Amino acid sequence: VTPEEFRRVGHLVVDWIADYRTRAATLPVRSTIAPGDVRRRLPTTPPERGEPLDTLLRDMDEMILPGITHWQHPQFFSYFPANATLSSALGDFLSTGLGVIGLNWQASPALTELELLMADWIRQMTGLSEAWSGAIHDTASTATLVALICARERTTRFSLQRGGLQGEPRPLVVYASSESHSSVQKAALLAGFGRAHVRAIPVDDAFALDPRALRQALADDRREGRVPCAVVATVGTTSSTALDPVGAMADLASEFGCWLHVDAAMAGAAMILPECRTMWAGIEGADSLVLNPHKWLGAVMDCSLYYVRDVEHLVRVMSTNPSYLRTPTDAQAVNLRDWGIPLGRRFRALKLWTLIRSEGVSGLQARLRRDLENARWLAAQIDAAPEWERVAPVPLQTVCVRHHPAGLEGEALDRHTLAWLEHINRSGDAFLNATVLGGRWAVRVSIGSETTERAHVAMLWERMQAAVRNAGI
Ligand SMILES: Cc1ncc(COP(=O)(O)O)c(C=O)c1O
Repeated sequence: VTPEEFRRVGHLVVDWIADYRTRAATLPVRSTIAPGDVRRRLPTTPPERGEPLDTLLRDMDEMILPGITHWQHPQFFSYFPANATLSSALGDFLSTGLGVIGLNWQASPALTELELLMADWIRQMTGLSEAWSGAIHDTASTATLVALICARERTTRFSLQRGGLQGEPRPLVVYASSESHSSVQKAALLAGFGRAHVRAIPVDDAFALDPRALRQALADDRREGRVPCAVVATVGTTSSTALDPVGAMADLASEFGCWLHVDAAMAGAAMILPECRTMWAGIEGADSLVLNPHKWLGAVMDCSLYYVRDVEHLVRVMSTNPSYLRTPTDAQAVNLRDWGIPLGRRFRALKLWTLIRSEGVSGLQARLRRDLENARWLAAQIDAAPEWERVAPVPLQTVCVRHHPAGLEGEALDRHTLAWLEHINRSGDAFLNATVLGGRWAVRVSIGSETTERAHVAMLWERMQAAVRNAGI
């Protein structure tokens, strides 16, 4: 494809995306196809000769779109809002068009410098002190893995320079609530702690970590000869956006000599609202923090910000210095490969830059406030409706709910919950998901798609009430 050909087809692609966003609201939210359907429609072998890209958009319409679940749909209430704002999409497009890779500063100085600046803009926007420095990672899962590796190396005083964890005399332990994201477990396992040394700390009635139980676990491990190493606090748990008590956990981490990592993948965005910052009170006592602008804030996936207070420690753990990457500017410039796991990095800062420039801080704040208000409205409807129960507090934009008619308990209640959920999802009118809270299934309504207004939430509430009548249970 020559630049001229790219210009011609590229305009068609941009038109296609703009049209798609305009009509997304008319499509069934969850894809209606069966496993294997997309593959069955496509050639099983690659084309021998190149073909003009003119047919691409027809194939997108006919073969790919039916297999798309529409995350940008105003009735998308599943998982979490993953707002791929078009302003951010433009930045991502520019990054792809430039096609540069940030192996080190000189490999594209603007890539590194804009990334550091965007991390600093978000630091300011979320009210964090100047003690924090951040960079963009692909996902919170990677950032949390980096955090636990850094914790391991601090506790062991750089065991990686010796025998690694295998050479340590006593096992190291990681602590997170039973509601923490699976990525915390995964990171702990990949960082070598072993399942026997990952503690799931019980939660209180609001699904937030119980600091007394954490203290007990820390003390038990210490007494029994294990070494408390890292505590992970979740600000905005995946199931219900519960808020772990960061301040109390910071105190305990400090008392027991542990690293404190804060997983604010989802709720970190809310900290651009000054009124929400009490939700992570004590954050300055943490060692590391992850938040995902590729969720609610509006940056196209992938864009996860990982902040630390001690950059020197991070670099000491992560740095590599092969001859082929050395440059004359190494002493003066930041090489972001030393701030995480991958060597190569995309120019991801562009999509944050275009997002923040286009919406402005006040525009982003207004959208998030709208979503919080919509969640409160839905919570109030549920609270007022007979036979419906809200099963968790609603500090943010996620409402967890059950329809609980008298006499329906246990597994029968679970079947009812999953049946009315599937009834809605199958209709294509809205898409929600379920989670287990307090041992029973509940439906999660995660509000915050860029295009979701009050009318969409009201329509969902009507659908929910109709679904429990019509789900055939
Ligand atoms: C609290 C929390 N942590 C971590 C993650 C994982 O995020 P990522 O997909 O960026 O790894 C999620 C995703 O849903 C989450 O809700």
